[in-house]
Formats: sequence, C-alpha cells, structure tokens
Amino acid sequence: MPIAKQVAEAMTRASWIRRMFEEGAELKAKLGPDRVFDMSLGNPIAEPPEAVRAELRRLVNDPVPGMHRYMSNQGLAEAREAIAARHARAGGVDVGADGVVLSCGAAACLNVLFHALLDPGSEVVIVAPFFPEYLFYAANHGGVVKIAKTTDDFLLDVDAIEREVGEATRAVVICSPNNPTGRLYDEASLKALADMLARKAPDALLVSDEPYRRIIFDGHRVPNLLDVTTQSVIISSHSKDIGLAGERLGFVLVHPEARDRQALLDAMVFSNRTLGFVNAPALMQRVIATTQHATVDVADYQRKRDLLHGPLVEAGYACPKPEGAFYLFPRAPIDDDVAFVRKLIEHGVLVVPGSGFGWPGHFRISYCVEDRVLEGALAGFRAAAEQVRAAT
Ligand SMILES: Cc1ncc(COP(=O)(O)O)c(C=O)c1O
Repeated sequence: MPIAKQVAEAMTRASWIRRMFEEGAELKAKLGPDRVFDMSLGNPIAEPPEAVRAELRRLVNDPVPGMHRYMSNQGLAEAREAIAARHARAGGVDVGADGVVLSCGAAACLNVLFHALLDPGSEVVIVAPFFPEYLFYAANHGGVVKIAKTTDDFLLDVDAIEREVGEATRAVVICSPNNPTGRLYDEASLKALADMLARKAPDALLVSDEPYRRIIFDGHRVPNLLDVTTQSVIISSHSKDIGLAGERLGFVLVHPEARDRQALLDAMVFSNRTLGFVNAPALMQRVIATTQHATVDVADYQRKRDLLHGPLVEAGYACPKPEGAFYLFPRAPIDDDVAFVRKLIEHGVLVVPGSGFGWPGHFRISYCVEDRVLEGALAGFRAAAEQVRAAT
C-alpha cells in the first residue's frame, strides 16, 4: 500500500539522530555493548527524583476515584496550577492555571501550537543549529520553515533572524538552554529579539522551547521570556528536568497579556483534542501536581560536562563551554562532519553529525550517559582527531 508522498519524502531526510541510533544497535551487536560508546540520543539516564516515585506509589496504593478518566482537554487543573505557580516563583509573570495547556511532551505541545497558529504557507523562523524535529512539526501543519543562523559561538544573531521574518511569519522559535549546543541566551538578546519582532511582525509569537530550563550549570540564571515580551509562549516538559521522558508530560505557558490570548488558548485546547493527544497521561499529571519542586541531579550533569569538555578542548576540539542541557557541539577536525562521525564509529563512538542540526562541520555529543561511556568515548575522540590530523 502506498504511503503519503509527504511522509515518504520526510522519512528519507529523517533525523540523523534516529539513524545513528540504528547504527549504534548494529555496532553493539557486532562489537558487544561494552565496546560501544553511544552518545547519539538525548535519552537521559538520570532516574526521576525520589519525591516523584513516592507520589506515584502513594497514588497507586490510595487511588483517587476517577483518576484514570478523561479530564478537561486543557489538562488537570491542579497540575496546571502547580506548573504556573513554579514558573511564577522562578520568574515573575504568573500565567495562572488557565494560561497553561498540557500535552504529550514538548513535542506534542509544539504540534498543538503550530496546528493552532499555522495556515498553509505560514512561516516559522527557527535558529540553526536547531532541534531537527522542528522541521517536521512545522510541516505537519502546513508551515514553511525559515532558518536563521546563530553567531559562530551559537548565540542569537538578531539581524540574521530579522532577515527571515516577513509578513507570513507566525512564530519565531528559540531553544535555550539549547539542543544541540548547550548555550544559554541572555536577557539582553531576548529583549533585542522581542523588540525586532514587535517592529517587524507584531502579530508573530515568540516561542521559547525550553525543556532544559532547569538543567543549568555554574549558577547561571535562565531569563524568563514572559518577563521580556507579552507576545510570548514558553513550551517545556518534564522529560529532562524530572527524568520522565517516556511519560510524555509537556506544557505550554501563554503570556497573560498576549494578543488574542483566549483565542490562542481555545485553538490549542481544540487542537490538543483533534490531534488525538487529549492531553497528557492522567496519572502522571497527578504526580507532577505535587512534585514541581523536584529535579534530577543537575550537579551530576555538570560533572559529566566537565569530565568531557576540558579533555576535549585539550585534545584540540574547538567547543564553547555549555551553560546547560546535556550536549556538547564541538567542531569536527575536518570539514566533512559526516566523514568524521564515521571515523569515530571506527573507534566505537556514536555521535550525530552537525548536518542533522542544520550546522555542518560540527557534531553533537549527548552526555546524559554513564561515566563508563564518557571515559571510553574520550579515548576514541583523541584517537580519531589524531588520525584525521595525521592524514591531512
Ligand atoms: C529542544 C527540544 N525540544 C523538544 C523536545 C521534545 O521533548 P519531549 O520529550 O518533551 O517531547 C526535545 C527532546 O529532546 C528537545 O531537545
């Protein structure tokens, strides 16, 4: 049976991340899992905090009547309230429970938002290097993606973004702390971006996709986009900060003074239903309603960053030090990032070429893995760099 042309075409360009995952599985079968150092996926090893497990046990042992039923398509009121309150405590603007929409991870939230915002041909501006799934999420809803590059050290280049913004722009999506670079955008650059957008496309929404907001190092503070502009939404999830990626808990926060706020919320709630998410898993919504204070061990991610970053720089890799998330995005020692990633595979190391993130010449390391993998991979990174340098 023929499948849709659009899907067939998208699958041929499908994410490098998946492709590396498959190559990794093959390599593990061939070499044995102990000799493969897989840093290709952002599938964190950190287990959820004890508070989350305890709440799950409590609910299972002492169930609330009706807790597995359908609920409001916007999400459980207690969960929305708790999420809004945590953001207000950390930031300033309180979106209130009615300004929160829950769905199946940040992935579903982005789809719900795009479904609500985009007509065929509407444009979404994203910033390269980017999370590759943005391309598919926008296309799912008829959107056309425009790509603006960051500066060489992966910070926002507002002029480059401005060149991509036009009459058809409905949203500009940024991601901070960033996947794949781990960089954090400061408040001044968010402000400059918001000012540009207010001037050039006042109806467009500024969207901050920030599932890594609470995975932040060295005492940095993540500025809150909602404090910077009213035309803003935040998208996030508990996949990374509470280690619940498989439980599919994401949320959208809409600024209380966003233009046409209620229409946007209504459209998202409707889309949440008609796209079939309806909305996030019920039991886990109850769990996160009382565990917003909890996070995975962020200091351990910082330790893993340091275990890798210093030695990589010493081995000659150029790589800005990330302020958060759990990725490094070094420059490959040769221009062809795909060839270099294949060279790393010869050493049992799996990473993803920068080409998959719209930024050739680099590669992404996902260090949310066991220390054994980091240590094994370092030997591979050193050996591969020496080999390609000796050959040039
Ligand atoms: C930048 C970014 N946005 C969205 C997502 C989707 O996350 P979720 O598991 O919450 O759907 C990811 C997952 O890796 C991500 O890195």
